[in-house]
Amino acid sequence: MPGLPNATEAFVTLVTNPEYGLGAAVLGYKLRAVGTTRATVVMVTETVPETTRAMLAKTWDKVLDVTQLDSKDSDRLAMLKRPELGITFSKLNVWKLNQYKKVVFVDADTMPLSNIDDLFQYEELSACRDAGWPDCFNTGLFVLAPSPDTYKAIMKRACEEGSFDGGDQGLLNAHFNTWSHGDISKHIPFSYNVNPNASYTYLPAYKHFADQVKMVHFLGAVKPWHYQYANGKVQGQNLTEHTRKFLEDWHKVAEMVKQSYYQPTSAAPYVPPISTGSTKPAAPSSHVVPDDVSSVLSHITAQIKNKEKAKSSMY
Ligand code: UDP
Ligand code: GLC
Ligand code: MN
Repeated sequence: MPGLPNATEAFVTLVTNPEYGLGAAVLGYKLRAVGTTRATVVMVTETVPETTRAMLAKTWDKVLDVTQLDSKDSDRLAMLKRPELGITFSKLNVWKLNQYKKVVFVDADTMPLSNIDDLFQYEELSACRDAGWPDCFNTGLFVLAPSPDTYKAIMKRACEEGSFDGGDQGLLNAHFNTWSHGDISKHIPFSYNVNPNASYTYLPAYKHFADQVKMVHFLGAVKPWHYQYANGKVQGQNLTEHTRKFLEDWHKVAEMVKQSYYQPTSAAPYVPPISTGSTKPAAPSSHVVPDDVSSVLSHITAQIKNKEKAKSSMY
């Protein structure tokens, strides 16, 4: 039926706190602004307050509670200099959303500049190269087919091996380990996941292709919401012209999203999102995958350390 989002395919993101909540609100707004015909779903963990959920309900079709998963692998996360990213294991819940045949997962710090629905032509697991290590894919954007079996297989790997970067990207690259040399049709063009903060070693290419960028990803510790913004301008030194423009685009939308949240109109009545409270409607059983292995996650670091100790004592 025209006007209704495609119910079998969805864009999905993850939010565990209010800061990323604002990022996701901008992303949800932009996905609609560029005219997506797919459903939009934001997965939230129990740590996300009701105010953030209400804001997200304005720009996303569904606000869905998921289990928080954390690698708790402080040693490996220290290498990334991002101790907070263990929680990105919560992304894995996306494989449990088997009411959708196909999903494009997008980080909450991404922003589409034009319609990206063509991503649904790709098969699992499709993604863009990581700018830091191009034989790996970046998990700020990837195409997948939800499946309880795949979820269990990834969780099993997490419990046995952990993740080489402490976050979801290391784990998913280990799991889908033929990506770099396998089927080239699973390589999404880099213009769908461009990091404007990066100091590209191939600057002429960045300049040359900047106008073709479909989606920006504000990867790294400094996020758009950390910049001061006043009178349509972002405060910040050493920003390239393009980065400044992307940040200003993001802030313009953030202002709008915040205003529409604080001044609800009668045209868009507030509908409470699904909450963790006792009134929560039971999810249809076909959508529920038991978290049988997730409880083991907190022991990953200990297990790996023991294994590594055992290995080193062999030599
Ligand atoms: N995320 C979150 N809360 C956190 C950290 C991460 O919700 O405290 C989610 C959010 O969707 C975010 C994604 O996990 O975009 C990956 O983290 P981030 O984008 O910070 O990683 P980067 O792309 O900078 O490596
Ligand atoms: C990467 C990705 C991000 C992922 C993180 C942790 O930098 O951009 O999406 O969550 O690594 O693995
Ligand atoms: Mn990101």
